[in-house]
Amino acid sequence: MSANELIDPFGRKVTYVRMSVTDRCDFRCVYCMSEEMTFLPRAQVLTLEEMQFIARAFSELGVNKIRLTGGEPLVRRNVLSLVQGIGTLPGITNLAMTTNGSQLPTMAADLRKAGLKSINISLDTLDGEQFTQLTRTGKIEKVLAGIDAAVAADFPGIKLNAVVMKGRNDDQVVALVEYARARNIDISFIEEMPLGNIEEHDRGETLCTSEDVRELISERFKLIAGTENSGGPSRYYHMADHPSKIGFISPHSHNFCGDCNRVRVTSEGKLLLCLGNEYSADLRDTVRRYPGDLDRLKETLHDAVTRKPERHFFSSEGEVDIVRFMNMTGG
Ligand code: 5AD
Ligand code: SF4
Repeated sequence: MSANELIDPFGRKVTYVRMSVTDRCDFRCVYCMSEEMTFLPRAQVLTLEEMQFIARAFSELGVNKIRLTGGEPLVRRNVLSLVQGIGTLPGITNLAMTTNGSQLPTMAADLRKAGLKSINISLDTLDGEQFTQLTRTGKIEKVLAGIDAAVAADFPGIKLNAVVMKGRNDDQVVALVEYARARNIDISFIEEMPLGNIEEHDRGETLCTSEDVRELISERFKLIAGTENSGGPSRYYHMADHPSKIGFISPHSHNFCGDCNRVRVTSEGKLLLCLGNEYSADLRDTVRRYPGDLDRLKETLHDAVTRKPERHFFSSEGEVDIVRFMNMTGG
């Protein structure tokens, strides 16, 4: 492997890093958290400077896309300074964020100015009551205002993300597509992933597959399969009469592992090579033990990538059981 890139044993080049900037969130979505969550003590969470340093090491190893996630990234104090810092790294051409939207009414314009290029906003329903049931603590008005603020701030890419569960919000699918069309933004529908132990609903009963969602949409809009490959678990469709794209994220299928280009860094600085795999490399240990030593950190990254597994398994396949919650893993 060349010293300036990260290539795994299956020949896949890592160009995309998802970084969780905090495990905290102002919402408690039923598929993501339990009602009572214990969050990490702050000393265990990477500082913004450590995150910036790790982002720099990745950028010098061929990574061109970084997505900041959470928990909810915008509840981290001073997160704007991290966006600014990563925005100035020469190799990073696509700085993205996944957010629940609640802080966007006040932050969208500043994020755009700081160099954020694309933004994914979670929205599972347009029904206020259903929204509060699904997020437990969320208020839909703030999120809808946040989406308006993002549209007004003119991000080159805005996408909605909706996790669809049978009997909970599958009645909202068509309305969400109409909402996205009206704003000229894209939308992706996500199958619920078996991460963390939740008691709220039986995942076996609520699983709404991408195919189910496509059928619901097809009753109203004709979908045309796209050809682009995101290097991720997303498949895109177009509509004949409108530019908004519709994505389907199907973590239950693993046919995308073959061209997976991504790794994840948790808010504690654990580098995860695959969503369905427990192995991690401790980047916090490296940056705290050898402060400012960029070469040492790059060595840790090189070494870790040699352990990227070929594909993932979820417990529904009778394999590993992932007990991490999504807020630890970073969307
Ligand atoms: N399954 C699928 N998606 C999830 N998210 C969080 N938990 C899960 C899960 N169990 C998604 C939310 C949000 C992003 C932060 O992660 O839809 O968009
Ligand atoms: Fe927060 Fe996103 Fe998890 Fe919901 S899915 S609790 S908004 S991190």
